[in-house]
Amino acid sequence: SDPDLVARAAAAKAALGSKVFVLGHHYQRDEVIQFADVTGDSFKLAREAAARPDAEYIVFCGVHFMAESADILTTDSQKVILPDLAAGCSMADMAVLGQVEAAWDVLTELGIAEETVPVTYMNSSADIKGFVGRHGGVVCTSSNAKRALDWAFEQGSKVLFLPDQHLGRNTAVLEMGYSLDDCVLYDPHKPNGGLTPEQLRDAKMILWRGHCSVHGRFTLDSVNDVRERVPGVNVLVHPECRHEVVTAADHVGSTEYIIKTIEAAPAGSAWAVGTELNLVRRLALAHPDKQIMFLDRAVCYCSTMNRIDLPHLVWALEELVAGRVVNQITVDPDTAGHARAALDQMLALPG
Ligand code: 13P
Ligand code: SF4
Repeated sequence: SDPDLVARAAAAKAALGSKVFVLGHHYQRDEVIQFADVTGDSFKLAREAAARPDAEYIVFCGVHFMAESADILTTDSQKVILPDLAAGCSMADMAVLGQVEAAWDVLTELGIAEETVPVTYMNSSADIKGFVGRHGGVVCTSSNAKRALDWAFEQGSKVLFLPDQHLGRNTAVLEMGYSLDDCVLYDPHKPNGGLTPEQLRDAKMILWRGHCSVHGRFTLDSVNDVRERVPGVNVLVHPECRHEVVTAADHVGSTEYIIKTIEAAPAGSAWAVGTELNLVRRLALAHPDKQIMFLDRAVCYCSTMNRIDLPHLVWALEELVAGRVVNQITVDPDTAGHARAALDQMLALPG
């Protein structure tokens, strides 16, 4: 990265001292991650944001829904900054509050809303988390989805899982013993989600039709292809991947789990990793004694994570030095209150 920008970022951080705390998601660019005070998956970063009440500014190098969650979990006087407002998430955009309310109305009319617990993946807007909090549900991340679903099935007999169908299906089927027939796919663009009343009544897991455009690109062919090319390779994927990919893989888990698994792997072992490319490249560089490769032949970054680049980070930090807060992310108090209930429920999950 540009040495001038590196020096400017370092100088701005030094000038701000303990007033600023920089959080970096594992999918961020190298040029940005070098300035993170803490790196993590979305669960770890939510906990870190909540644990830094002394930092006046939290600069969130990640995507919009993560910065919203940080704003909800921090104190009123703290300010959360997203260096580029265009850093959204296509999966989070697949569940819009009006659509989810319409789906809930369908369940209410069928008389099954009462027994349904809404669970939303962290990768959703504050509006959706607020909806879930209002209806007694919980937020989950890829590192605690099973625990969140265990909790939800203690509260009710059905779950409405938002917005990532794959995390919901993979967790229910591969970790909890539900069958594929226990899951239905609710399409918000079709009347009644494209489902019959019987299908909705019989389902245990009502999965929202959302997915991650990055992890959704890995296919069964990617797995078969790498197994052919590299005999003995271990396939390690994120649970946002399609069901058939996760089923065919050897290990599945959140980004934090992926990192720990690679760290614990013996020297000489070979790993094909199915997650965002910035992280896979860093893992490969950090473990030259292991053979670490990207699961697919095609290059696959998360384009919105990549929006946060060094120029944007430098700009946000230098503006803070000048006493100006740019790109602050705020959630309205009513939404934040309900979303906080669903986030606190997640943070209180046992284990
Ligand atoms: P985790 O950080 O929970 O592994 O989620 C991955 C992701 O897609 C973040 O956007
Ligand atoms: Fe969203 Fe997928 Fe990018 Fe994560 S990797 S921010 S889920 S599009």
